[in-house]
Amino acid sequence: MELAPGAVHLRSYLGLDAQRALVAECQALMDGAVPAYVPTVRGGGKMHVRMLCLGRHWNGQTYRYEPKRTDFDGLPAPPLPKSFKDLANTIAHRAGMALAADLCILNYYDADGRMGLHQDKDESPRSLEAGFPVVSVSLGDTARFLFGGLRRKDPITAIPLESGDAFVFGGPARLRYHGVSRIAPGTAPPELGLHGRFNLTFRQY
Ligand code: SIN
Ligand code: MN
Repeated sequence: MELAPGAVHLRSYLGLDAQRALVAECQALMDGAVPAYVPTVRGGGKMHVRMLCLGRHWNGQTYRYEPKRTDFDGLPAPPLPKSFKDLANTIAHRAGMALAADLCILNYYDADGRMGLHQDKDESPRSLEAGFPVVSVSLGDTARFLFGGLRRKDPITAIPLESGDAFVFGGPARLRYHGVSRIAPGTAPPELGLHGRFNLTFRQY
């Protein structure tokens, strides 16, 4: 369903088996050799998610991408698995857009997880100008996703993102403000055995 030009919500894109497999991969990555962490952003506040960047690291102090996590432990960002890349590019295609994803920001939200309204604008000027989309995949508890306009004060629509949903924003929607106001604890499909929510956002640097 197209919510605005370039903004497409693909509900129940992933079936339960695919969700279960992806949850297991996310858990292994989050607790792997290069673990997820809670970033401290510019100004000193802590984010309300655990984050792990794949392919390229997003630095919460400089708001730039880099190969190693110089804002945290200096470890290199783990590579973006080919299966993740293929998933993202296929979803973009289904939404009518082209993407060659080369990075993913994987976030874990616990019952208190949230993310303030922001634009995704730290990718390369070339990528932003081309309107290569952000592809978001949600797993676990339902999120109240906020989707606004190109200015912070523009009206905002609240969209429930459920486990297995994909959401794509590219082209004229690429720089729309968005965020997550809250998680609905205990709403994950029981088959996943997941408390909380994973969200993967794929981008092309
Ligand atoms: C993000 O904007 O980076 C995350 C969005 C979400 O968790 O759905
Ligand atoms: Mn974002």
